[in-house]
Amino acid sequence: MRLTAIRFFSGLSKMVDFYAQFNPSPLSIKHFVDFGMRACEKKSYIFLRQELPVRLANIMKEIHLLPDNLLRMPSVVLVNDWYAQSFAEILEFEKMDYSPEILERFCEALIKIRNRHADVIPTMAQGVIELKESHDIDVQTEHSIQYFLDRFYMSRISIRMLINQHTLLFGNELRDKERKTMHIGCIDPECAIRAVVNDAYDNASFLCDQYYLASPKLNILEQNGSGGPIQFVYVPSHLYHILFELFKNSMRAVMEHHPDNYPSINVIIVKGKEDICIKVSDRGGGIPRSQTDLLFHYMYSTAPQPSKSDLGTVPLAGYGYGLPISRLYARYFHGDLSLLSCDGHGTDAIIFMKALSNEANELLPIFNKTSTKFYTTPIPTGDWSTQSNAMGNRHISSLARALL
Ligand SMILES: Nc1ncnc2c1ncn2[C@@H]1O[C@H](COP(=O)(O)OP(=O)(O)OP(=O)(O)O)[C@@H](O)[C@H]1O
Ligand SMILES: [Mg+2]
Repeated sequence: MRLTAIRFFSGLSKMVDFYAQFNPSPLSIKHFVDFGMRACEKKSYIFLRQELPVRLANIMKEIHLLPDNLLRMPSVVLVNDWYAQSFAEILEFEKMDYSPEILERFCEALIKIRNRHADVIPTMAQGVIELKESHDIDVQTEHSIQYFLDRFYMSRISIRMLINQHTLLFGNELRDKERKTMHIGCIDPECAIRAVVNDAYDNASFLCDQYYLASPKLNILEQNGSGGPIQFVYVPSHLYHILFELFKNSMRAVMEHHPDNYPSINVIIVKGKEDICIKVSDRGGGIPRSQTDLLFHYMYSTAPQPSKSDLGTVPLAGYGYGLPISRLYARYFHGDLSLLSCDGHGTDAIIFMKALSNEANELLPIFNKTSTKFYTTPIPTGDWSTQSNAMGNRHISSLARALL
């Protein structure tokens, strides 16, 4: 039986089943801001002690749908235990009436959970590596893993967002100086995009300089219908994450493609009625079309995998997590990330974000029959010829010609 195959605390599975019946409640950035302006700790406590178990249970149910051999990998067992432990810790507050002491304990519990889950991404990635090293993986399993990781990491982003908002608004994490900023939790109501672009560029070029002893320059163009610098309500750390990953990719491509005279990276920031777009263009030689379907696959990388002795130093590339995780950050508030490339020339990466905070709703995975089916239904066979068939057809047609 699947549930007994994993180390699950007894009695907890019933509670997971119970909370997994509820759908997570997606919040918009506007909601986060409005709530944060009139921050009420008691309300936040009552909401989170219900919502966090729901989000945890939804994704925990999905973990159990993973192939058995992946569930048995030591790193996956570890991640599983972290989730069970955190779920149990939140449930302790289920029936506790609020008091200043309980609120303080709740805040401490959230911080403990956030710290426990800090390494979920590399640990889960390690679990997949352990599976690939010990088993041959078929297409169906590969497909399930990609589907799962997108949902799993998105769920993690959302849970961290809820925890951060609560602990930043009501905990003692911020020093007085930081409290005086305009930020509402981790949201900046006046997030200046150019500043985030510059910040991400500076840090990526610092890394690039370390590896290549030089780095491409940056040009920024802002297009704002109403004039002035472009600002919007957003989580700057999310935007920074995406831009940092894009800059690292562009810089590596440019440095590898040009022996000297490295062409600049161009960034255009545009504010439209509905969307805010940031286009990062490089002349790093582009990506062949045959590879574009793989770009958002976890662990797809053309860089050598950083060795274990490199731990502690930040590599410029090599894990194959940069693009897929960045796209999740963009999609989390109903934005997106697309790459368009001209093989031999360069690549445009476009980040789309909602310009209006009331439209920027969380995008959350929901555990239900449809998601369950995904793990069990075989991938349909294609009804178009593939390249290898085309080769076969060419052979057949020349054979046919010879016969005629
Ligand atoms: N701007 C670009 N120009 C050329 N190739 C690119 C560009 N961006 C991404 N790629 C290709 O896509 C692959 C995957 O990118 P991704 O950022 O996901 O992983 P990575 O850079 O290899 O490793 P890391 O997880 O450290 O970011 C890269 O290895 C590279 O081959
Ligand atoms: Mg990368």
